[in-house]
Amino acid sequence: MATMESLIGLVNRIQRACTVLGDYGGDGGSLWEALPSVAVVGGQSSGKSSVLESIVGRDFLPRGSGIVTRRPLVLQLHKTESGSEYAEFLHAPRRKYTDFAAVRKEIADETDRITGKTKQISNVPIHLSIYSPHVVNLTLIDLPGLTKVAVEGQPESIVRDIEDMVRSYVEKPNCIILAISPANQDIATSDAIKLAREVDPTGERTFGVVTKLDLMDKGTNALDVLEGRSYRLQHPWVGIVNRSQADINKNVDMIAARRKEQEYFATSPDYGHLSHKMGSEYLAKLLSKHLESVIRQRIPSIISLINKTIDELEAELDRLGRPIGADGGAQLYTILEMCRAFDRIFKEHLDGGRPGGDR
Ligand code: GDP
Ligand code: NA
Ligand code: MG
Repeated sequence: MATMESLIGLVNRIQRACTVLGDYGGDGGSLWEALPSVAVVGGQSSGKSSVLESIVGRDFLPRGSGIVTRRPLVLQLHKTESGSEYAEFLHAPRRKYTDFAAVRKEIADETDRITGKTKQISNVPIHLSIYSPHVVNLTLIDLPGLTKVAVEGQPESIVRDIEDMVRSYVEKPNCIILAISPANQDIATSDAIKLAREVDPTGERTFGVVTKLDLMDKGTNALDVLEGRSYRLQHPWVGIVNRSQADINKNVDMIAARRKEQEYFATSPDYGHLSHKMGSEYLAKLLSKHLESVIRQRIPSIISLINKTIDELEAELDRLGRPIGADGGAQLYTILEMCRAFDRIFKEHLDGGRPGGDR
């Protein structure tokens, strides 16, 4: 029987195929939109890119003070059984990146290709896939930070433009929201929570993440938030300690950063009792588990969507006279094969499924 893990892997592959081919989901709701993804929302420099990096466990995203993330980055993590880790951009499909510093540089360069070396933003996404035995299967979306005022070199409309762009991702019912709030600012006024509350009033798809716990004023702590007393969400809040700018400048690596983070919680007088429910690794596991349960709930509707897609692809192939080997035709056959595999595995899962069970 198929495991949920391989299901999520297939979901990723279908999402990628849809991206490459344009969307064959039809009007009734596209396949892409039927599948869950995770987006980060928060103020500028709240630590969004840092959180995504630590979920992935690799250094590859441009980070820093000011507006660094200026285009949406749609990041698909593919768990492989073994072998080396590499990354691939949709805009440069033949190049396999094994050097993650080069991935970061390409994200920055590709951002500039559209926006120039400015402080402007663009809503044209960059698509990146990472293949690795060390990741969980997830689609993550890094977004520019919400701001309150335009700075030198930005149009006045930028505040609204960013908010509208971010909203266009997080308002989708299948988007899981990572609402990032830095602990050294008031959570009640957090931009992330404000927007998350607007698009997800019941809080069922919002995960509250508190960053920069290490930067809080001495004598204060974030327990009211982390224990759900300040603002209640359906999912538990998770506290995070990312690398500081000084750590980044000193090239502190991911493994050292995680160790430091775990140590921080384990030895903290304030958070010691919560340490097993804090940190980036815990957040990654929590998300993966949530994704599994979301997919499990959606299996029946995804199956009918897949079947509709299969019908449409068959019709398209008939229209083309069943081409063999030709570029477009070959791609259609590939996605058709994938849909069939998808359908098969989903059905197996339904038949042998133990709803709510632990596989
Ligand atoms: P983004 O703009 O929301 O994507 O934020 P970044 O991930 O680019 O981080 C902005 C700055 O805050 C960087 O200099 C990070 O090193 C720093 N930073 C992020 N999270 C933390 C944290 O938990 N603790 C500390 N000390 N610094 C952090
Ligand atoms: Na930033
Ligand atoms: Mg960023």
